[in-house]
Amino acid sequence: MSILITGGAGYIGSHTCVELLNLGYEVIVLDNLSNSKEESIRRVENITGKKIKFYKIDLLDRENLEKVFMENKIDAVIHFAGFKSVGESVKVPLRYYHNNITGTIILCDVMQKYCVKKLIFSSSATVYGNVEKVPISEDSPLSATNPYGRTKLFIEEILRDLYNSDKEWSIALLRYFNPIGAHESGLIGEDPSGVPNNLMPYITQVAVGKLHELKVFGNDYDTHDGTGVRDFIHVVDLAKGHVKALNKVMVSTGIDAYNLGTGKGYSVLDLVHTFEKVTGKKVPYTIVKRRPGDVAKCFADPTKANKELKWYAERDLEDMCLDAWRWQSNNPNGYE
Ligand code: NAD
Ligand code: UFG
Repeated sequence: MSILITGGAGYIGSHTCVELLNLGYEVIVLDNLSNSKEESIRRVENITGKKIKFYKIDLLDRENLEKVFMENKIDAVIHFAGFKSVGESVKVPLRYYHNNITGTIILCDVMQKYCVKKLIFSSSATVYGNVEKVPISEDSPLSATNPYGRTKLFIEEILRDLYNSDKEWSIALLRYFNPIGAHESGLIGEDPSGVPNNLMPYITQVAVGKLHELKVFGNDYDTHDGTGVRDFIHVVDLAKGHVKALNKVMVSTGIDAYNLGTGKGYSVLDLVHTFEKVTGKKVPYTIVKRRPGDVAKCFADPTKANKELKWYAERDLEDMCLDAWRWQSNNPNGYE
């Protein structure tokens, strides 16, 4: 079976390629490398001993996208390609709407033309907006607090309209919680450009000496230690969730959303202390004021994915810290 992975050179995409190749799927990657390096593809090939067919193409380039569908018999698409920085999306919203939404529309249009109607879409827990009640189940109210979140919300709605217009489609909307960690080989991992916005890459860059200290955004939240609580999920567990979703979309039609999280909430300081314990590295930090837009607690109810996809997150916070550290310490400058 042949799977097209858009954004397959990126963080979650590269880990998903490993899982698919290990199971014998043929993998075709399409990526414009706007936020990744081709080296990640080579590393995936090293880990698996398998080849990837790689197209350096922009999703917005319909002509070249069609060539990919003409040259290959594609059975399903896993669609990771998109911009993902919340802060940047507030500054340049039109770039986000164009890249994420127009890119998805072009992809679906081409898929329909070539009769490929199996799609897995990277959504996000961000579609739950200002979380009022945890754990969050899929039928919780949806909203968005920034343009990035709105791209995910709008795309989910567009995909529902698409399914309603043509019931041959089979679509899984995977709502990721907070992916961290790296493949246990230490060969692939998260490689943010510039100073990281997210917690785990910031911690690992402090530990490796690239950054001076972590700033903890607020310790006055209504949580067990006052710092924000999140559902950190190992990226390999997340990648395996895509394989399970693929099993489902291949044998059914419909559209369904699934939370991919562990169901457990850990605080910022829980993560810092676990990281220090398992790696033996100190992570100096100071408490600063809250980051605007952050919620106190966000963690999943993953029951639906457990039952319907037969997917369970297996790796714990210690695994996440150890694997993130192996990647960072072996590759202090990422893929460079
Ligand atoms: P990433 O930036 O590492 O990967 C995205 C990939 O898409 C990159 O390789 C980038 O070069 C590529 N890309 C972007 N626009 C493209 C275009 N127009 N044409 C071709 N390629 C394009 O990000 P990631 O962390 O692997 O996230 C993958 C997906 O999951 C994204 O859609 C993201 O919004 C979503 N997501 C991520 C997180 C997270 O915390 N990492 C959480 C929830 C959802
Ligand atoms: N945090 C710090 N210091 C930092 C970075 C983060 O204290 O330098 C804190 C935040 O305040 C928050 C927690 O660490 O309490 C996690 O923050 P992240 O930026 O790592 O992740 P978010 O939960 O804010 O958001 C992430 C992705 C979003 C996605 C969301 C889904 O960045 O794209 O998970 O839940 F939508």
